[in-house]
Amino acid sequence: MFDNVKVGIIGCGGMGSQHARNLAKIEGADLRALADVNLDAAERLKREVGGKYCTTDPQNLFYDEQIDLVLICTHHHLHLPFAVQAAEAGKDVFVEKPLALTIKECEQIESTVERTGVKLMVGFQARFSPFMKKLKQSVPNPLVIVGQMVDPRWGDDSWANDPIEGGGNVLSQGCHLLDAICWLADSEPVSIYAEGGNLTHPKIPEITDSIVSTIRFASGCVASAIIGDFGAPALVGKGFYELFGGDKTATLSGYYNTPAIKFWGIEPQTFTMDNLPAELRDGNAAHGYVGEMEALISWVRSGTDPMEAAKVGDGLKATKLAVKAIEAIKSQVPQELT
Ligand SMILES: NC(=O)c1ccc[n+]([C@@H]2O[C@H](COP(=O)([O-])OP(=O)(O)OC[C@H]3O[C@@H](n4cnc5c(N)ncnc54)[C@H](O)[C@@H]3O)[C@@H](O)[C@H]2O)c1
Repeated sequence: MFDNVKVGIIGCGGMGSQHARNLAKIEGADLRALADVNLDAAERLKREVGGKYCTTDPQNLFYDEQIDLVLICTHHHLHLPFAVQAAEAGKDVFVEKPLALTIKECEQIESTVERTGVKLMVGFQARFSPFMKKLKQSVPNPLVIVGQMVDPRWGDDSWANDPIEGGGNVLSQGCHLLDAICWLADSEPVSIYAEGGNLTHPKIPEITDSIVSTIRFASGCVASAIIGDFGAPALVGKGFYELFGGDKTATLSGYYNTPAIKFWGIEPQTFTMDNLPAELRDGNAAHGYVGEMEALISWVRSGTDPMEAAKVGDGLKATKLAVKAIEAIKSQVPQELT
């Protein structure tokens, strides 16, 4: 068991800051280094959460023998180089989602992690949400899953819509839904078909912003995944999941604002914020961000495998599903995943 896990963060923007704030409250985690090309962002965060030093050069974290764990919270084109360099330096790694934007890049990270033997977690925090855990527990062997992750239209100039830095809505954000559906199905996806394409960003023809897809799992489970930034997600909200288990059904709606589960064939028939302990009744905890960092620190510190965490293979799987869905749209042919 380590005394304390010494952490370096690369990218001190929105997500890097949120993780830093959560880590600052976790016993056993010591924030050591904050790296950002924008030194002001790193220094601002250090003033807020602490830490030993700031740097504009992430390489300094890889050379720092004190650092055990590196969090990569940059835009997506930098996930591959930083994840590989961190693993080569013997650091355990947390990579924000998506693991990378192509199957090849994800495989490169996977082979580096396997060869170096470091731990790598991907930022699919929904797996630590008490709502998602309740959903999975309630319908453990779903026959059919319906999932939706829909946003109002993202700006053309948003970095996440940049084909290199972001990849567009399906690769950038849809990976959350694709990972969650695989986790809820508890089975390997074997094929995917999709329709959709570039419906809302004609000025950026390289990106895919919308898909309606069908996934088949080895267990026989089938899922429908709807992803995109094509409108206001009225009624059910941006994040929506419905699991049919034959004799029971569970529906989670409003995941990103007022999450609530309704059950059929299960008592009691609802699960809302009111069912959570007081300390979990905010978005940061309810969406799994707090539990994710706690599990990460415990994994690095004690070696206890956080079974629910997304590992490198899960990151690869989510990107593969998104990439294959895009190929299916172009080819009009279902894509095998094995
Ligand atoms: N899990 C979630 O719910 C969730 C939500 C939002 C974003 N994200 C993910 O978090 C990651 C970061 O997104 P964000 O919204 O925080 O972006 P952001 O733009 O707010 O922050 C990125 C930071 O990286 C810094 N940076 C850029 N190049 C760098 C380099 N070479 N070295 C060091 N720092 C560099 C930027 O200056 C910026 O401060 C992305 O992978 C994104 O998809 C995840």
